[in-house]
Amino acid sequence: MRMVDIILKKRYGGKLTKEEIDFFVKGVVDGSIPDYQISALLMAICLKGMDDEETLNLTLAMADSGDRVDLSGIPSVKVDKHSTGGVGDKTTLILAPIVASMGVPVAKMSGRGLGHTGGTIDKLESIPGFCTELSQNDFINTVKEIGLAVAGQTGNLAPADKKLYALRDVTGTVESIPLISASIMSKKLAAGADAIVLDVKVGSGAFMKTLDEARTLARTMVKIGNGAGRKTVAVITDMDRPLGKAVGNALEVKEAIDVLSGKGPEDITEICITLAGKMLELAGKGDFDKCVSMAREALNDGRALDKLRQMIRAQKGLEKVIDDPELLPQARFVKEYRAASGGYLKSIISDKLGTASMLLGAGRATKESRIDPAAGIVLIKKPGDRVEEGEPIMILHADSEDLFEGSVSVLNEAVVISDAPPEEAPLVIDIIE
Ligand code: URA
Repeated sequence: MRMVDIILKKRYGGKLTKEEIDFFVKGVVDGSIPDYQISALLMAICLKGMDDEETLNLTLAMADSGDRVDLSGIPSVKVDKHSTGGVGDKTTLILAPIVASMGVPVAKMSGRGLGHTGGTIDKLESIPGFCTELSQNDFINTVKEIGLAVAGQTGNLAPADKKLYALRDVTGTVESIPLISASIMSKKLAAGADAIVLDVKVGSGAFMKTLDEARTLARTMVKIGNGAGRKTVAVITDMDRPLGKAVGNALEVKEAIDVLSGKGPEDITEICITLAGKMLELAGKGDFDKCVSMAREALNDGRALDKLRQMIRAQKGLEKVIDDPELLPQARFVKEYRAASGGYLKSIISDKLGTASMLLGAGRATKESRIDPAAGIVLIKKPGDRVEEGEPIMILHADSEDLFEGSVSVLNEAVVISDAPPEEAPLVIDIIE
């Protein structure tokens, strides 16, 4: 088999066989296919697409390109959740304890943030002492003991994706539904859960800017999951507005504690209850309505908060942050960001808000950047609220006053104030089964 023939076949819109896809993925991982040929095929896939069978075969080959996590030692159905990435998205910190507190084990591997999006591992590491580097054994034993562990990726999961993603990033081939689907789902399949709930975000802060694209991505990933024998559901949620009020690592942990204490913002609470309801349903706990009620109950009676406490204790973090969130890292400087004019807060463009928070130190401009766990932004006003000229809209947190200027100039582009209130839009837009 020759790589050039595979490239030519896709260039002219042909359908790749399983053998051709396996040959390609094997060559990506063992280094026998040079980067220029890999990139050429990626571009051909971007332009000509792949059908469902090709996309499933690509995903399976990528999932098999390295280790697979073996969760079979943990009894009962394990459910995983994946979000396609957002700004201020602390859903894992809330969902995982809700679901685990209802007796469904959650063994979650999460990532770090890059650019304007955050990562769960960075958020958890803002809790003093919290350990996210667990060996496979410790990871599995923690789940067996308390029903929940969230750790950074260990082992060599889907190495083909690492290589392909790095090349896509520099060859203009990130935005392709088959490539995004295979990238996300190969890691989910390798991570070992029996069922998967996908939170597909749509809007300015998300990869998918339109609802049509988000629906196609969701359908493609659901077909892959089910085709690979895992029960998979996708929930399409709005990312045109920030989720909750906090953006930044320790600030988001505090907000997650507030939600689990029943005192959090309504939007993030409702999204988490919907996603948790779907996870419980996939785990066989009853129909969706019953599972939503169970999730609400776990929030209201403190069981979910107690599960978060158990997880922090098991992973060696300072569990007192639950009772006293002031023990989380605090920024040395805060500054109010005020409305330039009066009217309605029409929108806060999520990706720009994420960038403004990154510039305060909460995120990484490059993979190597160091983050400040205390930095970030807390909204005082949310889209739809009335604001007067000069009224504070948000509070910026940073370790140095010098960081405020750059962040404020991005916020000036992020904040849109208008005379009329924005139209109300649902947060959960669709569920693809
Ligand atoms: N997230 C991933 O893991 N891969 C993609 O291709 C896009 C988003």
